[in-house]
Amino acid sequence: MKKIGVFDSGIGGLTVLHSLRAACPLLDMVFLGDVGRMPYGVHDKETVLGYSRDCARFLREQGVEAIVIACNTATAASLTELRQELDIPVYGVIEFAAEAAKKATKNSRIGVIATDATVRSGSYTRALEGYTVLERPASPLVTMIEGGIADSDARALEACKAVLADLPEQSIDTLVLGCTHFPVYAKPIGELLPGVTLIDTGAALAEALKDTLGNGGSGKTEYYTSKASEAFAAMVHRLDPNAGEIRVFGW
Ligand code: DGL
Repeated sequence: MKKIGVFDSGIGGLTVLHSLRAACPLLDMVFLGDVGRMPYGVHDKETVLGYSRDCARFLREQGVEAIVIACNTATAASLTELRQELDIPVYGVIEFAAEAAKKATKNSRIGVIATDATVRSGSYTRALEGYTVLERPASPLVTMIEGGIADSDARALEACKAVLADLPEQSIDTLVLGCTHFPVYAKPIGELLPGVTLIDTGAALAEALKDTLGNGGSGKTEYYTSKASEAFAAMVHRLDPNAGEIRVFGW
């Protein structure tokens, strides 16, 4: 492929984009961060489905050949529908993360932290059928990450401790970071779960899709956001030092 579209509610999608860029250096990518309507994970399915349809339409208008839903919440709420409604391939993160977790676990006990909406959807429990799955809702981390609170900040460690709750005592050997924002806090999460393999959903997707997506473009990335945000811009430039203008648009 030459050009694909990638969307999320904001910073989380940038972690997926980063993995995709490493896997497909020449693919052209149009990234949309719906920062004006984040967080997605506190809404019901119908609302997130509506947001996802808007994002997909926007990206389709940019002439992309495929869409990556770089968001677990939007994948859970809209992958089936978008696949039916669009005439281009649509990929979501959950199936690839689940496969990576199955490969990584040795004791079949897998933890998942995700947004409230993803946990409510039961998507990971279904995708990991046959394994012992311990899911915990962790939406407060999304707002902290979008607020620009760094992983080295003591508040990040405290918040991670709170959302992991009893998981450190549950003998899991694998934890799915079931929200694309959470790799930003991989360091404090890893400190709280020594020896546990962390699954980054974007990295799992990029590894699985790199041959399918290919390398047919010129390596260009265009950035769009539905709301100007300092934390979003800082993460764009941290992960892509050569990033050009971040275009702000209204729905
Ligand atoms: N990054 C998203 C996810 O993977 C959603 C975060 C949010 O907006 O709540 O679920």
